[in-house]
Amino acid sequence: MTPDELKQQAAEAALRFIEPRLERDTVLGIGTGSTVNHFIAALGDLRNRIDAAVSSSEESARRLTALGISVIDLNAAGTVDLYIDGADEANRHLQLIKGGGGALTREKIIAASAKEFICIADESKLVPVLGKFPLPVEVIPMARSHVARKISAMGGIPVYRDGFITDNGNRILDIHKLDLRDPRAMEAQLDQVTGIVCSGLFVRRPADRLMLAGDDGVRTLLPNS
Ligand code: A5P
Repeated sequence: MTPDELKQQAAEAALRFIEPRLERDTVLGIGTGSTVNHFIAALGDLRNRIDAAVSSSEESARRLTALGISVIDLNAAGTVDLYIDGADEANRHLQLIKGGGGALTREKIIAASAKEFICIADESKLVPVLGKFPLPVEVIPMARSHVARKISAMGGIPVYRDGFITDNGNRILDIHKLDLRDPRAMEAQLDQVTGIVCSGLFVRRPADRLMLAGDDGVRTLLPNS
């Protein structure tokens, strides 16, 4: 199967997982990326059973709205029951690198608000140690050079994502070669750098369920499995 077919498999498995859990007032959190796009497309069949969705990006919001699914502001949602999103990398503790699509800050906020975070991906995203994928960091535009210097001092190589502006009006630095053997400590350290809005490390709030599609089907990893 191609990587895209695997993403579709993971998305469809997630849809089967959430379908029996949908109640009249369920609010779904919907992430961003090519895997989630498959999920959104499949979600169209359930549109009448979904009260509302909160979206991590303008792009996903457009796709949801086009299907007739109501997209609401997180502040109006009260609580997000189920959050479905992809990842750029995941480890066995369901800690993630996210933000390849640049939506990391809204993704982290929705994940923090969600009762259950279901991560969907193809098998290639599972790694023993996070960090081969460059870690995206959202920065306030005027802090870009300052943050880049701080990150260099931490041993990373920051690369400016030229021409990209986040939905929040900020910029992205993709950090190469950062030592993420202790991702919890690194997430905390990055949170301390003035000018960083958010890092793409999801460690304090990992996924609750990781659905991985491979050639043998979709398997589910739970935090202690
Ligand atoms: C978006 O900002 C990211 O966090 C995505 O969830 C991540 O990049 C996964 O994208 P794909 O599903 O396209 O691989």
